[in-house]
Amino acid sequence: MRICILGGDGYLGWPTAMHFAARGHDVVAVDNGAKRSWEESVDVVPLDPVPTLEERAEHWRRGWRRPIEVVHGDIAGDPGLMHGICRDFKPDAIIHYAEQPSAPFSMMNQESALYTQHNNVQGNLNVMFAMRDHCPDAHLIKLGTMGEYGTPNIDIEEGWLELEHKGRRDRVLYPKKPHSLYHLSKVHDSHNLEFACRVWNLRVTDLNQGVVYGIETPEMDGDPMLCTSFHYDDIFGTVLNRFVVQAVIGMPLTVYGNGRQTRGYLNIRDTLQCVELAALNPSQPGEFRVYNQFTEQFSIMELARRVQKAALNLGHVVTLQHVANPRAEQEDHYYKAVHAGLLELGLKPHLLDDEVLVGMLERAEAAAGRVSEVGLLPRVSWRHGLQEESAPCTAAVS
Ligand SMILES: NC(=O)c1ccc[n+]([C@@H]2O[C@H](COP(=O)([O-])OP(=O)(O)OC[C@H]3O[C@@H](n4cnc5c(N)ncnc54)[C@H](O)[C@@H]3O)[C@@H](O)[C@H]2O)c1
Repeated sequence: MRICILGGDGYLGWPTAMHFAARGHDVVAVDNGAKRSWEESVDVVPLDPVPTLEERAEHWRRGWRRPIEVVHGDIAGDPGLMHGICRDFKPDAIIHYAEQPSAPFSMMNQESALYTQHNNVQGNLNVMFAMRDHCPDAHLIKLGTMGEYGTPNIDIEEGWLELEHKGRRDRVLYPKKPHSLYHLSKVHDSHNLEFACRVWNLRVTDLNQGVVYGIETPEMDGDPMLCTSFHYDDIFGTVLNRFVVQAVIGMPLTVYGNGRQTRGYLNIRDTLQCVELAALNPSQPGEFRVYNQFTEQFSIMELARRVQKAALNLGHVVTLQHVANPRAEQEDHYYKAVHAGLLELGLKPHLLDDEVLVGMLERAEAAAGRVSEVGLLPRVSWRHGLQEESAPCTAAVS
């Protein structure tokens, strides 16, 4: 297949580019380097240095592997970019990761919220129009998030809900109540894409992805020139990464609020499997297909306890500490989300066990000297934006 990966310099984009190239597909990776400037703006860097997209693609090619073509460009700010790519490359599939992906970043201030929604919604619209005009039969695989749904008091279905109202039935997009302006940008994307399927007959798979962990994929094979980013900070880091880093530097694991917030998680290897399964089994023309892309669900407290136990195997005695929750979210809630579609397509999950956690801890131990204190405590409050002072700790738990 001819595959275009938008956001190819990102945490997921680069491993995806290698994954498809290694399987014999023609890959174009598009990125404008925005993530690197966002990192600078909030004073964070990934734990290990990440070579540029061009350097990684060049290193990949030098190993006699199928080349990954790199296009530097802004899919949101340059409305012509995707037209050129769709007209000239004629992709069979477009995997769209190229969005501002951080909830705290979108909640820092008015400017960051506007930027997030413009970048994400506009970029997605540009992709839709370019597909309509140049490759209407291509399949768009769009990354959404499980956070779009929020924490409803009913089961979360895969994108659609069968509804009975006043004796009549209909199938409607699942009502979404997300917890941040970033997640809302994804909801807007989903609505725009459903429209594009219904009105222009495009084919789209919207992957509502859980929180991804892990940085190892078979194509990287331990080569630092092919690595992807590991963020542990308050803006771009995920909770599991932060706990792993806190454990190896001897800091208590900081649990936001009571820690009973529950979400879906998956290994980066399963992200790659899922996008490949979606690409090999495209949706039909006019079909807006939605999958919930995660393999397990955990509460924050469960994750903290697991990291605590795995760290003990490596000789780190770790404590937990509750901090005031900077987010406006329910802490005690019902959470049951269907995630059957990708399993039916053949997904074989890699689950979060002690071996995976010990591997992550060992990687973090090797880089412990580079850990920055910036962002180990939250700086962004959902109600008040970016704060000068990090949130204070509230209570210790052993
Ligand atoms: N990582 C996760 O845990 C996770 C979970 C759920 C959903 N997602 C979604 O998956 C996608 C990829 O996530 P990630 O963690 O790899 O994020 P990332 O920030 O590492 O990668 C996104 C890439 O897109 C690029 N980009 C952003 N806007 C662009 C634009 N206008 N033009 C060109 N390039 C642009 C960035 O420079 C970056 O390299 C995002 O859409 C994110 O919302 C990620």
